[in-house]
Amino acid sequence: MSTHYSTHIGTDIAYAATLLQGGETVAIPTETVYGLAANALDEDAVTRIFVAKERPFYNPLIVHVPNVEAVRAIVAHIPQAALLLLERFSPGPLTVLLPKKPIVSDLVTAGLPDVAVRIPAHPVALALLRECGLPLAAPSANPFGYVSPTSAEHVLKMLAGRIPYVLDGGACDAGIESTIIGFPGGVPTVYRKGVITIAMVEAVVGPVARGSSAKPVAPGMLASHYSPHTPLIITEDVDESLQENLGKVVGLMTYNAFSELLAESRQILLCTNDDFATAARNLYAALHDMDTRGYELLIAKKLPQSGIGAAINDRLMRAALK
Ligand code: TXA
Ligand code: MG
Repeated sequence: MSTHYSTHIGTDIAYAATLLQGGETVAIPTETVYGLAANALDEDAVTRIFVAKERPFYNPLIVHVPNVEAVRAIVAHIPQAALLLLERFSPGPLTVLLPKKPIVSDLVTAGLPDVAVRIPAHPVALALLRECGLPLAAPSANPFGYVSPTSAEHVLKMLAGRIPYVLDGGACDAGIESTIIGFPGGVPTVYRKGVITIAMVEAVVGPVARGSSAKPVAPGMLASHYSPHTPLIITEDVDESLQENLGKVVGLMTYNAFSELLAESRQILLCTNDDFATAARNLYAALHDMDTRGYELLIAKKLPQSGIGAAINDRLMRAALK
């Protein structure tokens, strides 16, 4: 097993498929974030994902498939609510937790009875899934704990030398990870918020429960995650936080309007006019960018705590924890 690679970047889907069929990892574009993919049915290949990311084995992986038929091939049963959600939101940024068939290894699910499954909406991801004919396990393509990548360049910056190939599909459209929904006791339960909001899910299946990230049902929902190296604080009052940190070299991520208390060159506007889907699309690129500027502190303005705003705040809060 090679552990040091000369990492190539390109748009060759057939080459990516050949690598995956040969048990290698490939970074792939999805509509949410880039994933680090490998054959979900090959334990050695899946192990390579954990090694490249330095990801702990207790953290289970999402398996990507091209259609509902391919979901059926790896799960024992699809509850009615899950089927309704898959029909409404797939392909798309939705992950469902379903009872696994024995062919799915415990390495993928970290020993849990459910496997996380998703049908991504990115045309390159779908073309690759069809071409290679394999279910692909793929966590976000970042070193464990760091900010997720939303471009091929982000992946290359973080994983060069650790993987053979980055399949470039351009910038990710949604920008934050998929909404994760499980069905414990038959009750639809949201474990991770995303651009498919709780309101959108409830419009299809009725009231949902909220899975606490503190519970070990989703071992990967760790409190600290998505973290830049530079310390980050979240605030509702940007100007007050800037005043409190006058002695520091600060970068600000805000939305709608720049603060007048800081040079605009040190600020990134995630969106204007409360367009929070755009804020989600820009979030990780802003964090990657800000984290290379040598600032002593990053300040992020908290978004309104509903819909996509809540999903973004969730990432910011985890990014702020050390
Ligand atoms: O949008 C996404 O979901 C991206 C793209 C690449 O598809 N993937 C992604 O993977 O965000 P990752 O590994 O960074 O996050 C997967 C999350 C983890 O928090 C993990 O704990 C949870 O899914 N998960 C996976 N399998 C699970 C299972 N069987 N039960 C509970 N949680 C699970
Ligand atoms: Mg991740």
